[in-house]
Amino acid sequence: MKGVILAGGTGSRLWPLTRLMNKHLLPVGKYPMVCYGIDRLRRGGITDILLVISKQSAGLYTDFLGSGAAFGVSLTYKIQEAAGGIAEALDLAEGFIFPGERFVVLLGDNLFMDDLTPYVESYLRQPEGTAKVLLKPVDDARRYGVPVFDSQDSAWIAYIEEKPEHPKTKFCVTGIYMYDEAVFDIIRQVSPSKRGELEITDVNNIYAANRRLSYDVLKNWWSDAGTFQSLREAGEKLKDALP
Ligand code: G1P
Repeated sequence: MKGVILAGGTGSRLWPLTRLMNKHLLPVGKYPMVCYGIDRLRRGGITDILLVISKQSAGLYTDFLGSGAAFGVSLTYKIQEAAGGIAEALDLAEGFIFPGERFVVLLGDNLFMDDLTPYVESYLRQPEGTAKVLLKPVDDARRYGVPVFDSQDSAWIAYIEEKPEHPKTKFCVTGIYMYDEAVFDIIRQVSPSKRGELEITDVNNIYAANRRLSYDVLKNWWSDAGTFQSLREAGEKLKDALP
């Protein structure tokens, strides 16, 4: 199993701080945000990790993280030239993932406390060509991708609505995804959305339409630290999470 952390993007909701440096390097407790995803993967036994970063701050990433050895992992870096969406960033992992390999994708601003091991193990028991997403119940699902379950067989997600006005469930699709190399063919089937980006929800909906998107629900604290309020809360929650 390999890991991919998507840590590019413009971080517009955290402007003007993100004019100075990329969002995923902003401080959360004692470390830059990106370190928590690396730690979650490492604790889940995943040490071969691709970091997709932007041109902005690329040198800061390598200054701080280097080869990854000091963090107990091996890091590979790829640059996403312009912010073209989560699925476009994910597409850069083709070549890092070998045929037959499976991998976990983390959005770098998704911070959480669950151990990934049981979710990875359950994904490894799924048939080839299927995917898994992790969910979390939230107060305001309108800010997120929201899953609707297959009424015939609730082990699978029927479809996901991205930022719906009237969410049909109380769950959010977190930025924790599991795929095999079939995902790269699926990304090629997706067209840019209205905002001109390749959306991860469109990719996941192709799986869902074929009853190939399973889910698990996170048991512990999770946050998307993409706003000032959630960044502050994450800093407090994780202040002693890493040594
Ligand atoms: C993205 C996804 C959304 C997901 C969220 C989790 O949204 O598009 O489906 O629920 O991450 O953090 P964004 O934060 O890019 O608006």
